[in-house]
Amino acid sequence: MTRLSRLSRSIEGKVAIVTGAASGMGRATAHLFADEGARVAVVDANRQGIADVVKEIREAGGEAEGWTLDVRDPAGITDLVVAVVDRFGAIDILINNAGITRPAPLQAEAYEESWVEVMDVNLTAHVRMVRAALVHLQASGAGRVVNIASTEGVGAQPFVSAYTASKHGVVGLTRAMAVELGKTGVTFNCVCPGPIRTGMTAKIPDAAKEKFARRRVPLGRYGEPEEVAHATLSLVLPACSYVNGAVLMVDGGLSIQN
Ligand code: NAI
Repeated sequence: MTRLSRLSRSIEGKVAIVTGAASGMGRATAHLFADEGARVAVVDANRQGIADVVKEIREAGGEAEGWTLDVRDPAGITDLVVAVVDRFGAIDILINNAGITRPAPLQAEAYEESWVEVMDVNLTAHVRMVRAALVHLQASGAGRVVNIASTEGVGAQPFVSAYTASKHGVVGLTRAMAVELGKTGVTFNCVCPGPIRTGMTAKIPDAAKEKFARRRVPLGRYGEPEEVAHATLSLVLPACSYVNGAVLMVDGGLSIQN
């Protein structure tokens, strides 16, 4: 009998853009995708970080090219998409991962500045990237978008209201795109990481990390960037063709524990 299964679990040769790829989960995702044979556009505002990641990937035998971009720059996003298509000939996968947190009490004086910055990076950039890349993602035939939200996309903690609102926005935006753009054949899903050891959480002392994880995370520990990257990879496989609008928690069970 011939094999019943027809769908591919390989991203070999696919072109993937990963934003925020100079550090943390973006870096882990860029590495993993390159390890799996994808051609990776390493995009970040941190020029030196990009150079380092591109070098690491090439030394590991992968294919990567770096682009410096502040994702708040709409013209820069348009230029990026043109440059990636010039270099690699297509865009099959887009990972909107770049993100920041600017903790501020709701009554802080400089609140509005942090609100605008957080919204621009964490939410507005995602929609701009998708609008700019959509025609190429559609041409791919198996276009995949994964937006990185957070457990803050489904719950809340004090003093990070802009971050929480932006991440709830990412969940809503992902669902809206999945519904409105389903007929393009591109899928739109989002990943909600829990506490992960990255640049974003680097200032939290280990003892505080361990205490938090013991109390709040059923698995009793912080996650590693690679664990999130693998969840993201699952959502961009050609075989992941009927998952659209999903919100995948990658949080060790944090969000379902009472
Ligand atoms: P990270 O700080 O290690 O990496 C974020 C990267 O984004 C950095 O390389 C930074 O240069 C880049 N970036 C920031 N602003 C940018 C801009 N305007 N334009 C271009 N690049 C920019 O952080 P991490 O943790 O890897 O964050 C990745 C994503 O995961 C973010 O969206 C974050 O909100 C989300 N997340 C992180 C969690 C954690 O515990 N670390 C938990 C849940 C979600």
